[in-house]
Amino acid sequence: MSKAHLPTPPDFLIKEFASFQPKDRQAIAIKVAKLERKVFPAIEHFNYDVELKKKNIGMVLAFKEDDTDTVVAYLVYQRMKRLVWLHKLCVLEQEREKGLGKRLIEFLRTQMEKGGCQIHLWVDSNRKPAMALYKSCGFQQIEYRPDYYGPGRAALKMELSIGE
Ligand SMILES: CC(C)(COP(=O)(O)OP(=O)(O)OC[C@H]1O[C@@H](n2cnc3c(N)ncnc32)[C@H](O)[C@@H]1OP(=O)(O)O)[C@@H](O)C(=O)NCCC(=O)NCCS
Repeated sequence: MSKAHLPTPPDFLIKEFASFQPKDRQAIAIKVAKLERKVFPAIEHFNYDVELKKKNIGMVLAFKEDDTDTVVAYLVYQRMKRLVWLHKLCVLEQEREKGLGKRLIEFLRTQMEKGGCQIHLWVDSNRKPAMALYKSCGFQQIEYRPDYYGPGRAALKMELSIGE
């Protein structure tokens, strides 16, 4: 088959958690918690039963267009007036480096543009893909705490100003 006739790979659907029917939310939260357990150490796991009930917590989710049962990426944020904390961002291993992390941040950014705000996050300096992503999205380092996550693992606070 010539290249021009190869089928296009499925795209991703990106949706806010709050846009789902309340009856479907529990099942989605379970999938997110499962993905989180695969990727992050136990100390960083969220209790989604508690967190997602908070009014100022939001979550952006990505699914494959041809498999809307599988969560392939998620981003958790918390809005505090004009400050938004990006608490979690995770892409399923086999879907990384396809622009999905960047698209989730862009989605959040578009939602927050009205009125202007700052997005803040903490990141372990050893998480190189995350550092590359945040830099590529325009985040700037505003604080540095050496050895915060362990010897040689600094915590960097990063900021992105939007909608101003
Ligand atoms: C960090 C993470 C979310 C990135 O998601 P992703 O979908 O692979 O990132 P994208 O494809 O959108 O890439 C965005 C940019 O980062 C760069 N990047 C992503 N992964 C990279 C890697 N492994 N090495 C070098 N650069 C990388 C891309 O080249 C791209 O740069 P560009 O915009 O200049 O082209 C993903 O690797 C992940 O889930 N990691 C584990 C969890 C984690 O560390 N989360 C962050 C916690 S703070």
